[in-house]
Amino acid sequence: MKITVINGTEKHGVTYRLKEAFLEPFRNTAEITEFYLPKDCPGFCAGCTACFRKSPEFCKDAKYVMAIEKALLEADLLVFTSPAYVFHTTGAMKAMLDHFGYRWMPHRPAKEMFGKRAVIITQCLGSGERSTAKDIKDSLSWWGISYIRQRSFKLMGDIDWDKLSGKKRTQMINSVTSMARKFATIDYSKPAHTNLMTKAKFYTVRILQTRLGKENPEYTDFNYWKANGWLGKARPWK
Ligand SMILES: Cc1cc2nc3c(=O)[nH]c(=O)nc-3n(C[C@H](O)[C@H](O)[C@H](O)COP(=O)(O)O)c2cc1C
Repeated sequence: MKITVINGTEKHGVTYRLKEAFLEPFRNTAEITEFYLPKDCPGFCAGCTACFRKSPEFCKDAKYVMAIEKALLEADLLVFTSPAYVFHTTGAMKAMLDHFGYRWMPHRPAKEMFGKRAVIITQCLGSGERSTAKDIKDSLSWWGISYIRQRSFKLMGDIDWDKLSGKKRTQMINSVTSMARKFATIDYSKPAHTNLMTKAKFYTVRILQTRLGKENPEYTDFNYWKANGWLGKARPWK
């Protein structure tokens, strides 16, 4: 199986330790591709909208975006990690997610995403671990992923891993490890179930795309939906 990890920070701090603990059960069996932000996607979206109007290949950051997109689409399991920065995900993670706005369901979602599983790991000093995870979850769910699990922690102590109490470290590692063990038992040859919320979003956008196509048959997103057969009987889930 393949795992793609998007690390919201390059620092080898608490987030990194929790991510390493999650990956531990997969080390001998999975092909793991990791991206560290901002190093692996350093540019901000400049709002040129070339990805929406044409293709992400026209983005000034295409070199980075296309490499991440390829790894996301090929993976069976996606892992996203982030510390809380002022109650939200890191600016680096947000900047990377902005580059995939064109993959949100109202535009051109990748059909591969609908069957994928994803994990979000976030932590903070005192408050904001859940809003940080939500920043990431908003994108993943609008990309079409239904199966998203998360672990979010408050340190309530020192911010250095080595100075944290042994009890706190064990508690967080056990939580992440037990989630990883569950994920290790999944049969990844079968796509994840697409839930009602994802289907509701899909059918709402389907109505919108049908209407937009009547107004402008050249519209990029409309033609994408049409080419996939989603305005007819085809669906991106099995
Ligand atoms: C710019 C910045 C903003 C932060 N904002 C918050 C915050 O809103 N809430 C909080 O509890 N901790 C906040 N923190 C603390 C980090 O979330 C915390 O130290 C975390 O453990 C760092 O993870 P790391 O070791 O993986 O870098 C902030 C840290 C930085 C550098």
